[in-house]
Amino acid sequence: MAYETLIVDIDNHIALIRLNRPDALNALNSTMLSELADALTAADKNDKVRCIVITGSDKAFAAGADIKEMSEKGFVDMFQADFFGPETEALLRVRKPIVAAVAGYALGGGCELAMMCDFIIAADTAKFGQPEINLGVVAGIGGTQRLTRFVGKSKAMDMHLTGRFMDAEEAERSGLVSRVVPAGKLMEETMAAAAKIAEKSQITVKVVKEAVNRSYETTLREGLLYERRVFHMLFNTKDQKEGMSAFLEKRQPQFRDQ
Ligand code: CAA
Repeated sequence: MAYETLIVDIDNHIALIRLNRPDALNALNSTMLSELADALTAADKNDKVRCIVITGSDKAFAAGADIKEMSEKGFVDMFQADFFGPETEALLRVRKPIVAAVAGYALGGGCELAMMCDFIIAADTAKFGQPEINLGVVAGIGGTQRLTRFVGKSKAMDMHLTGRFMDAEEAERSGLVSRVVPAGKLMEETMAAAAKIAEKSQITVKVVKEAVNRSYETTLREGLLYERRVFHMLFNTKDQKEGMSAFLEKRQPQFRDQ
């Protein structure tokens, strides 16, 4: 399907979604977010897709929600449209792993979109920030909640209150991103990580995603019980037998998602 604000390629079991509003540094407008929700939902349903990657351009992953689109809106408009609520909820319903490949600016909604992905690989050019305070607003799609969980209260407060940007090195040190790579290698490294994920059992991959996400939603005791139960459950799959037999027979496993 052709999109106005996205370029989507599916190859080698990976759906690569590129945000594509170069004139606005990939600012997230309603069209882009609704197309993104659509593309992600389609990739989640597509049996050929085993991992999803979201990226932007060399200059910007996304420089935030579209300020031009929002500037004249009032409370009633924002509230009645539940601005960005349905689109971001759609993203959270995706069961396949989503990797964010971030180069350049990931600001405001751009930083929040990256944090909604399952993990972030950053180019050494990446700059993260929640500068909404400079616009007289607060983050609106998870920045106050997710950034705090990633980097802790002190740094999250600093970022949200001063509006300063965090470079890739600080983002890795603080736990916001999983790894930093040279900008010229960003896509190669990200696609290699996605290809590794695509090789695994899709059942196990989905269980891992659910279990790690659960750690944000519940108490440690409940989370540990959930993990133990899904660990037990996986012993009823053919992929567990295949994975363990392959190890013992010193060969690569051939998972069949069963
Ligand atoms: N919305 C709309 N347009 C944007 C934009 C945004 N968030 N960010 C950049 N653009 C546009 C600029 O208006 C400019 O367009 P024109 O050429 O038509 O003037 C174009 O992209 C290039 O931007 P700059 O000329 O500003 O580029 P720069 O290299 O000088 O600066 C920047 C880059 C530091 C990222 C700067 O563009 C910037 O500060 N952008 C805004 C960042 C921001 O405040 N983001 C938060 C948005 S609110 C939000 O996201 C709320 C939420 O949580 C949901």
